[in-house]
Amino acid sequence: MRRISLLLMAILMLIVTAGGSPVTTSTDLWQSTRVTDPKQHQLTGTGGYPYRAKSDYVLRELDLRPGDVVVDIGAGDGFWAERMAKFVGKKGTVYASEVEQRKVNRMKERFGDLPQVKPYLCPTDGTGLAENSCELAFLSKTYHHLDADGRVDYLRHLRQVVRPTGRLCVIERYANIDSQRSSHATALSQLVKQAEEAGWIAVRYELMTGMYHYIAIFVQKDLFGPESAR
Ligand SMILES: C[S@@+](CC[C@H](N)C(=O)[O-])C[C@H]1O[C@@H](n2cnc3c(N)ncnc32)[C@H](O)[C@@H]1O
Repeated sequence: MRRISLLLMAILMLIVTAGGSPVTTSTDLWQSTRVTDPKQHQLTGTGGYPYRAKSDYVLRELDLRPGDVVVDIGAGDGFWAERMAKFVGKKGTVYASEVEQRKVNRMKERFGDLPQVKPYLCPTDGTGLAENSCELAFLSKTYHHLDADGRVDYLRHLRQVVRPTGRLCVIERYANIDSQRSSHATALSQLVKQAEEAGWIAVRYELMTGMYHYIAIFVQKDLFGPESAR
């Protein structure tokens, strides 16, 4: 009985609080897109990879689990592969694909004590991985390196490599913001159009404040059943 009264009191307090003052939402779970400072989106990050400062945020978005298999396409120095390795654990795999042998060799040296990271030399027009072998295909600042005429085909290939419930994540510099750097960037609209053409559906895309880079996450179109007729 006492428990029930306490519960009722707690519910009542929640109702009163919500009615009397604005409901606050944890910024951990939800962030307002309202522009409160005209300068809030201006570039604050420095260097070629400013988004690396947001790696915790990116990894939270990816929500990797032990045992997951990921392909990090254009892994470079292995910055992301190393971080992802902690989440997928020893039972998971991070294929760190690179087109430059020198970078593959360096990653092999660097990740000797992380056997779940597997650096390898990949072709330029695909991952070289088997069908349905990965939960996530991840391209951080690599998309603009892909052959401009072959991007839709590349994304179609990734749909084969990624399992039906898997995801595609792309981090890119937002071309339309910074025209001076547009050769090392991709317009978000262009990426979404090409991904949709290849059979991916965007579930979230977000500009990373102060970075001029966005993160875009897609799932396979096949996950969606037909809409019920109205
Ligand atoms: C700008 S770096 C990004 C490194 C890393 N992903 C990051 O965000 O920190 C792009 C990398 O993609 C690699 N690359 C270029 N074309 C590629 C392709 N077709 N497949 C895989 N990697 C590619 C380059 O060798 C380079 O290491």
